[in-house]
Amino acid sequence: MTSPAAPPASHPDWQQAFDLRAGVAYLNHGSFGPPARVTTAAREQWSRRLASDPMDFFLREMEEQLDRARDELGGFVGTAGRNLAFVDNATFAMNGIAQGFPLQAGDVVLANDHEYGAVLRIWRERCRQVGAELQVASLPPRFEDPAEVVDALLAAVTPRTRLLVVSHITSPTAVILPVAAICRRFKERGIAVCIDGPHAPAAVPVAIDRLGCDFYCASLHKWLAAPLGSGFLYAHPRWQGKLQPPVVSWGNSLSGRSSSWLDPFNWMGTRDPAGFLAVPTAIGFLQGLVAPAQADWCGPPSGLAVFTHYSHALTRYARLRMVELTGCEPMVADSSDWYSTMIACPLPASVPEPESPHAHQWQHELWRRHRIEVPIVNWHGRRSIRVSAHLYNTAAQVDLLVEAVAELLKELPPASG
Ligand SMILES: Cc1ncc(COP(=O)(O)O)c(C=O)c1O
Repeated sequence: MTSPAAPPASHPDWQQAFDLRAGVAYLNHGSFGPPARVTTAAREQWSRRLASDPMDFFLREMEEQLDRARDELGGFVGTAGRNLAFVDNATFAMNGIAQGFPLQAGDVVLANDHEYGAVLRIWRERCRQVGAELQVASLPPRFEDPAEVVDALLAAVTPRTRLLVVSHITSPTAVILPVAAICRRFKERGIAVCIDGPHAPAAVPVAIDRLGCDFYCASLHKWLAAPLGSGFLYAHPRWQGKLQPPVVSWGNSLSGRSSSWLDPFNWMGTRDPAGFLAVPTAIGFLQGLVAPAQADWCGPPSGLAVFTHYSHALTRYARLRMVELTGCEPMVADSSDWYSTMIACPLPASVPEPESPHAHQWQHELWRRHRIEVPIVNWHGRRSIRVSAHLYNTAAQVDLLVEAVAELLKELPPASG
């Protein structure tokens, strides 16, 4: 077997751009991405500005500053800022949608078996409250043809289906789903589509208006490396008047502006909006990247594409090295159409079930022995290791992971029989 293609070397500035603890191989940006240093600095600056005169900030300045930040975010995700509400995270956004979407007894919400567990729980609970039903369709076992994914979802549609909830990039399996085709086909059927997109912004292009979805939820503390606790809820104008945040407060503008669907989201009681206001800094950080001047760089010269090129190359390296070790092929074709900055690499069937529902024992061992942070996912009775790669990660960290997994595999008891 030929040795897997090495990714370009990481630029030393990229590691300096984050505040990660020395000695840790942090390969789990997909769960909790650390913010870039410049973003943290921007958040702190906004907090100081607020603290210097909270009355002035909340009553006269905040709404305008939130508008400005939303406009920049809108430019990044392909819609007008006025269609976006800042919320703490995708979970918050999904709860708001679940409470506002007009579900009735007998209706069906359609999801699939790659959806995030907490999202399924939100909809199961909402359906239970109104006598509706959550239906979970199975997607194909291999991801090579987008039409097969769309067809699997369409095959589950019945006259009772009101809403499709679908990830842009799935959590347990790290698959980029063909959301543009899905939105098109569900629109033809008159079924609303809610995209659960926390893994998408920065990892793949997000063009909300072009997608034509009804709702889009995201956490910006993932791939955008914005402050932890920053996310957004997009609602198509036809839904905006129906949505309320799960937290009820005054519901009107603090600065006396004419009413908007965003008012209840702008004010959910007194809190610091600095994380939201620092989102444009996070966007600027990734869009301002310049390619390293090294012979092994054959990617784009500047901009966000520097990040996606590097991260995908490193993710692909992780994929190839893990396959070389285990012989187990991921469920997605080896193409940036199907995976971007994160890959789920299956482990051999001999890797045992998790001993606790909290985290697989290997996850603890990788941390205890090697200070590697990486999730072991237990999905459909099979274990996989989900490797994330951001700018601060290196090929050496992937090599460390592969050697650590090789060590754990050697410790497995010999198969009986
Ligand atoms: C697909 C998906 N949806 C929703 C969430 C929830 O995101 P958050 O915890 O930021 O609200 C996650 C978190 O990892 C996720 O992967």
